[in-house]
Amino acid sequence: MRHVWSAAALVLALGAAQVVAAEPVDIEQRIDRLLGQMTLDEKVGQLNQLSGKEFTGPATDKVRSMETEIRNGRVGSMLNIKGVADTRRLQALALQSRLKIPLLFGLDVIHGYQTVFPVPLGESASWDLEAIEESARIAAREAAASGIHWTFAPMVDVGRDPRWGRVMEGAGEDSYLGTRIAAARVRGFQGRQLGGVESVMATAKHFATYGAAIAGRDYNAVDMSDHLLHETYLPPFKAALDAGAATFMNAFNTLNGIPATGHEGLQRDILKGAWGFKGFVVSDWGSVREMVVHGYAKDLPDAAAKALVAGSDMDMESNAYASSLAAQVKAGTVPVALVDDAVRRVLRKKFELGLFDDPYRFSDPARERAALSDPRHRQAARRIAARSIVLLKNEKGALPLRRGLGTIAVIGPLADARRDLEGGWIVKSDAANLASLVDAVREQAGPGTRVSYAPGCDVACRDTAGFKAALEAAAKADAVVLAVGESWDMSGEAKSRADIGLPGRQGELFEALRAIGKTPVVVMMAGRPMIFENVAEQADAILYAWFPGSEGGRAIADVLFGAVNPSAKLPMSFPRSMGQLPISYQQYETGRPVRDLKNIVYKSAYIDAPNTPRYAFGHGLSYTKFAYSDLRLSAASMTPSGKLTLSFTLANTGPMAGAEVVQLYLRDPVASVVRPVKELKGFQRIELQPGQQRTVSFTIERDTLAFFNRKLEWTAEAGQFELMVGSASDDIRLRQTIVLDAP
Ligand code: BGC
Repeated sequence: MRHVWSAAALVLALGAAQVVAAEPVDIEQRIDRLLGQMTLDEKVGQLNQLSGKEFTGPATDKVRSMETEIRNGRVGSMLNIKGVADTRRLQALALQSRLKIPLLFGLDVIHGYQTVFPVPLGESASWDLEAIEESARIAAREAAASGIHWTFAPMVDVGRDPRWGRVMEGAGEDSYLGTRIAAARVRGFQGRQLGGVESVMATAKHFATYGAAIAGRDYNAVDMSDHLLHETYLPPFKAALDAGAATFMNAFNTLNGIPATGHEGLQRDILKGAWGFKGFVVSDWGSVREMVVHGYAKDLPDAAAKALVAGSDMDMESNAYASSLAAQVKAGTVPVALVDDAVRRVLRKKFELGLFDDPYRFSDPARERAALSDPRHRQAARRIAARSIVLLKNEKGALPLRRGLGTIAVIGPLADARRDLEGGWIVKSDAANLASLVDAVREQAGPGTRVSYAPGCDVACRDTAGFKAALEAAAKADAVVLAVGESWDMSGEAKSRADIGLPGRQGELFEALRAIGKTPVVVMMAGRPMIFENVAEQADAILYAWFPGSEGGRAIADVLFGAVNPSAKLPMSFPRSMGQLPISYQQYETGRPVRDLKNIVYKSAYIDAPNTPRYAFGHGLSYTKFAYSDLRLSAASMTPSGKLTLSFTLANTGPMAGAEVVQLYLRDPVASVVRPVKELKGFQRIELQPGQQRTVSFTIERDTLAFFNRKLEWTAEAGQFELMVGSASDDIRLRQTIVLDAP
């Protein structure tokens, strides 16, 4: 059956080709020349990506046949190959092919290559764009020296349902925070321009709406309004593109009935059309083939045709393009012009990376040795991890721990964890070389302090036999630290949880410690927000450390002892109960809002739980205090082409140096499409010495006030707007109304 492809798709593809004609003539001419020499099979080969996991094992028949494919120019890219030796060996095979087109080596370098940084959600809690960019730069430096050209990161999917395990890989629930972090990560991975040997190509993934899986179950279908798509889910992708993201990855999910991989509207109309993307789109692992399972394609050849026509340029591991695209072109189902456009996009990146001039330039043993042994990388990992740890609660002066304590007991299933500190997506796990939290507390406690340790139970915590030893250790201690949470493999891809409570009986361990009068300082590790109501109510102090990476143990100890004053803020709301999910601070006002908790009859409320989260988006405490005062505006109103400045004074009124992430929120109270009760519009991380104060300013312009109207046009409507400045989405300290004049 002939696949019906739209004329618009062809015009868009050709249009995009014209746009790139303005790029350096040299590369475009070289692409033309090369394309002119390529057979159809060689073209399809460039769009075929294979996993090379097998290459590290024995030379099986499969390995030999893959080697032959590479020599025959039937493979354009490999994933899961790493290290100078392997990348060189395979590149040498590609150079035996007729046209000697080098391979691209892609890998999931998600939060570090050898030096592991906090998982992306944790790192996002730093709200520190420089730190986030720096961690991506270090990951790129280590990966690039080991022969990697391309990372499948950043994941820029908005996530509002912590049941979905992959919230761990993103920047949380908020689109604005997501855009800023997406851009920082792309800049970090790619450097100023492609081609630097200390940079890798970035991938904005998963295009699009993968994070909105129904019921938080990974890979599940997505059903979403155009409004939510444009306003919330697409902006981080656009920001990644504007920051120069070289590639995009599409997604496993269907969106309103169409698989993202076969979605022409997303890939051709929006990405390559309206946004003018000149890089290439890679499918997700096997997602071309999965269109058959979805019931969108009748067989693999049909899936190949539908994916390519819809704008999916490279096929990751479906073997759909390699096995059937050429036949589809010959049958007239797929226009060769679309294949050419996809091939051009892939070749362009190979040229821009300089691979045609030196195919081995990234695989450099001396640079690999230097990058993988640079002590500054671990130092940065420690600094960034400490900045990502959120102080959720701190009462009765529980933290920082006093110096000179006689005994500190470090209790709990994660107290001596090493592998779990790293989280998922590890490339070169160095777990044996890490300091666990107990190790780090021993390092930092000082010579007069004894440190004892008892796990109580393992992470699954089904068995409480170990509680006794833990309680005995705690009974003898002057301070107790309890480390609980998830193991590294409980968050991430295919790690959705229907119950995001503390695993097993971990909560009972906390209660048992309380029962003997030893309320612990609680350290939590996880890749997602968890629910822990008893701990939230009864603990004096809680630190949320996520999976903090190679130096995570030391970073937690830095915060426990006050060497680092915590400054992180939650990038996702923490629910009180499963029934509140999905949850975000960015809600719409109902006609029946709850104004008074004592009167919820016929109001938009739960009769058995509050609407509010346990910890709100943007929440995070410090060991010092910050006072907000003296809000002023450069003018009370502005024109659509004008600007105004909001300023206020931030003072550190507490005893310690610290940093505050000040947050600017907006509400448009009356609009032609109702607006959320609060939208983040700006933030800054401000460091202040005790007693020091500073003027902080935000610029308000049309874009700050604009939104997508009924026709999905980006518009700002004249009228009043409320600006709110605060320390968290539920801790607004200053407010002011401004007016946008009619044009
Ligand atoms: C994930 C992608 C990843 C790819 C390659 C897929 O299962 O969804 O995010 O880049 O595998 O490992």
